[in-house]
Amino acid sequence: MKFQEIKNGIFYCGLNDCDREVFDELIPLEHGTSYNSYLVKGSDKIAIIDTMYPPKTEEYLKNLDDNGITKIDYIIANHGEQDHSGSIPALLEKYPNAVVVTNAKVKDNIKEMLNVDEDRVCVMNNNDELSLGDKTLRFIIAPGVHWPDTMFTYIVEDNLLCTCDFLGAHYTFDDVFAVEGPELEHSAKRYYAEIMMPFRTMCKKYTQLVRDLKPEMVLPSHGPVYKNPDFILDLYADWSADESKNLVVLPYVSMYGSTEEMIDYIIKGLKAKGIDTLKFDIVRGDLGDLAMGLVDATTIVLGSSMVLAGPHPAAFNIAYLAGVLRPKAKFATFVGSYGWGGNLFGKLEEQLSALKLDLIEPLLVKGKAKAEDFNKLDEIVKQIYDRHKSLNLI
Ligand code: FEO
Repeated sequence: MKFQEIKNGIFYCGLNDCDREVFDELIPLEHGTSYNSYLVKGSDKIAIIDTMYPPKTEEYLKNLDDNGITKIDYIIANHGEQDHSGSIPALLEKYPNAVVVTNAKVKDNIKEMLNVDEDRVCVMNNNDELSLGDKTLRFIIAPGVHWPDTMFTYIVEDNLLCTCDFLGAHYTFDDVFAVEGPELEHSAKRYYAEIMMPFRTMCKKYTQLVRDLKPEMVLPSHGPVYKNPDFILDLYADWSADESKNLVVLPYVSMYGSTEEMIDYIIKGLKAKGIDTLKFDIVRGDLGDLAMGLVDATTIVLGSSMVLAGPHPAAFNIAYLAGVLRPKAKFATFVGSYGWGGNLFGKLEEQLSALKLDLIEPLLVKGKAKAEDFNKLDEIVKQIYDRHKSLNLI
């Protein structure tokens, strides 16, 4: 595969992974993903920015051969996670004079995780620069989007910014430049929801940092290159904003249909009051869809059947996931059904406690909901409506 030139001696040398179906063994991928690597040819030195996911190393090295790359002076490691750092040992072996240039945290990570010899690592601090001759690389330490070791690399003379995982998308392509549209936006949001949402505050900070830098292009480490950085920056500004949308997400698991009946009743009531809803079947649904809903939702209604005196494990898992993804939701409640007893909501509340949600009175019924229970569900709808109205969402 011939490397595509991005600008003036700067080439894309990464790879698509069209067959990958799940990332982090957690979120299904709709379009596979790409592991981006960039070759920067200066007048004196050649650098490669980020490397490759280990199972793709052989193909990656072959492509470097096929494109006649016989010398690499610097391997820039923006991040220690192995989908980008995994091929560093193979590159160091292939190019015996190459040096890894990175920050202190990545150095520690690749030393411990990949057995990289520290004598072949050069550590940079924030805003340090490295000359390649007619091109200069400037390193911007950006902890928190999404690992503590993350940094960006700015190619000064060309005004290009490599943002590592930040501003990325799980997406594959033949042409490296982004085609703006709903499909790419969807993939970028799904990616944000899993990878970046837990670090929303840092996302806000670095969205502004990138805007202030005014790069001509943004080169992330997954997904396409943005010739119009405002496309992805505007999306990040929206997703990471404190303001949520007029949306209720309702993940549920229902063994005999009673819990789902209550979820459906609530949805009908919310819709009648002009509130958007996302019903999510925990057992059969795609976690990416739920995660994307959590990017915007103001309220979470979690439904669960009782299993062995506690929440259904699938509902417990969702409560845990929501707790660690740290969505901006402000309100929550629970509905559930039991056969012989137990504590259904306590453990779910515990998993969500980090979100500091304002909890609305939940509803637990034995078997199917009765007439008086539907009155209580009406009250849940009213409580959600009042809260959304108080935020001027309606
Ligand atoms: Fe794409 Fe944090 O690695």
